[in-house]
Amino acid sequence: MTSEFVRTRVVDAGRRLEVRVATASLPVSRASTVLFDSLAQADAAGQATGRGERHATTYGTAGTPGTMALADALAEVEGAGHACRAALMPSGLSAISTALLAWLSPGDHLLVSDSVYGPTRVFCDGMLARYGVRTEYYDPAIGAGIERLIRPETRVVYMESPGSYTFEVQDVPAICAVARARGVMTMIDNAWASPVFSRPFDWGVDASILPLTKYWGGHSDLLMGAVVVREELWPRLWTAVRQLGLCVGGDDAWLVLRGLRTAEVRMRAHEKSALQVARWLAARPEVASVLHPALESHPQHALWKRDFCGSSGLFSFELKAEMFGRDAEAVSRGLAALCEGRRHFGIGYSWGGFESLIMAAKIGSLRSARPWQGGPLVRVHIGLEDPSDLLADLADGFEAMRRVKTQPPGVSRPVTR
Ligand SMILES: Cc1ncc(COP(=O)(O)O)c(C=O)c1O
Repeated sequence: MTSEFVRTRVVDAGRRLEVRVATASLPVSRASTVLFDSLAQADAAGQATGRGERHATTYGTAGTPGTMALADALAEVEGAGHACRAALMPSGLSAISTALLAWLSPGDHLLVSDSVYGPTRVFCDGMLARYGVRTEYYDPAIGAGIERLIRPETRVVYMESPGSYTFEVQDVPAICAVARARGVMTMIDNAWASPVFSRPFDWGVDASILPLTKYWGGHSDLLMGAVVVREELWPRLWTAVRQLGLCVGGDDAWLVLRGLRTAEVRMRAHEKSALQVARWLAARPEVASVLHPALESHPQHALWKRDFCGSSGLFSFELKAEMFGRDAEAVSRGLAALCEGRRHFGIGYSWGGFESLIMAAKIGSLRSARPWQGGPLVRVHIGLEDPSDLLADLADGFEAMRRVKTQPPGVSRPVTR
C-alpha cells in the first residue's frame, strides 16, 4: 500500500453518503465550502445569492442548511402574519450595529430612545458619530410626540421597549404611525419579550432586532443576534450583511433552534416566578419601587397590557435612597452586601438563560433626555429555580445589606453563602 493511496482515501472516504435518515431535530450543518455540479450552477447560485433569494448560497458565509432553517424559523415566529426575512449575526450587539449601518449615511439624523441598551448608545455616540450620523435621544414616554423631533434628514427611529434597566414601556404603535407617515424607518430591540410575548410587526415596526443570546437560546451558552425585516427591506439588509461578512456557525444555529422549541414553556415559567418575586420585593421595607411592566404600579402598565401578551424574567427594583443617606460609599457597600454571596443569584451581565442573576445598575451617563432621579437600582433576572429558594436568598441579601449599613467603612462584609 502506498502512502499516496492513504492520503487520497482519508480526504475522500465517507463523503458520498446517500442515506437520508428522518430525525425530529435537524442535523448540525457545518460548512465553509459549498460544492456545485457545474460552473453554470455555481454561477446561477452566485447570482441568486447576490439578489438575496431565500436558501441561495455559494459559501458558508451566505448560509448552510442549519442557518437557513433558523433564519426561516425566526422570520416565521417573530414576523408571524407578515412577510419577513431574517439575517443572523454573531451577537445581539452586531445585529444592532448592522441594522443601523445598513440604513444610515453621513448627514443623517437618528432618533434613539433614552433607555436604550448601553452599548447601543456607545455605538451611536462613537462609530456612527464618526461617520457623520447625528443621534438625538428621546424620552421613552414621548409616544406620538416624536413627530416634533423628526426633521427632513431623520432616517431612523430606534426603540427598545421596555427599556434597559429602567423598563419604560413605549407607545410603539403611535411612534411607528408617525414615523411611517413621515417616511422614517423604525427599528426595535425586542430582547425583553421575545420570543413569545410581543408582536412588533403588528405594532408597525420595520425591523425587529433579536438578541438570540437571551431567551431564544435560553441556556447562557451561546452568542447570536438577528435582524428581522419586512420583505421589501430585505435587499438593503442583505447587502450590508454580505459586505460586512457577517455569519454564524452551524453549532450555535442548531442550539438556538433547540432553544426555540421550548421557548414558550420556559417563558411562562420565567414570567410566573418573576411576578412572584416582584410582588414580594414590592412589599419589602428596603424597596422604594419595583420596575416591572406587569405590575399595576408600573407607570406604563396600561400600555404593556395593551401591547404585550406576557412578561419575562427581567426587571429592576429601586432601593430607598434615604437608607444610605447621601453617602456614595455606603450605597456601594450596601449594594455589594445585597448582591454578593447569594446562593442562587450569580453576578453577571446578560440574562435570558435558565439561571437567576443580579446586577447593580449604573445608569449615570446612560441617560440624557430623562436622567434617572431615583435611588440605587438593582436588576434581577429570575431563572427557573423554585421561587421560594430565590425569595429566601434575597431575604438573606437584605439582611446582609442592613448589617453593613450599620457598620463603619472598612469592616469586612459578612459572607452569607
Ligand atoms: C436589551 C439588550 N439588547 C441587546 C443586547 C446585546 O446582545 P448580545 O449580548 O448578544 O450582544 C443585550 C445584552 O445584554 C441587551 O440586554
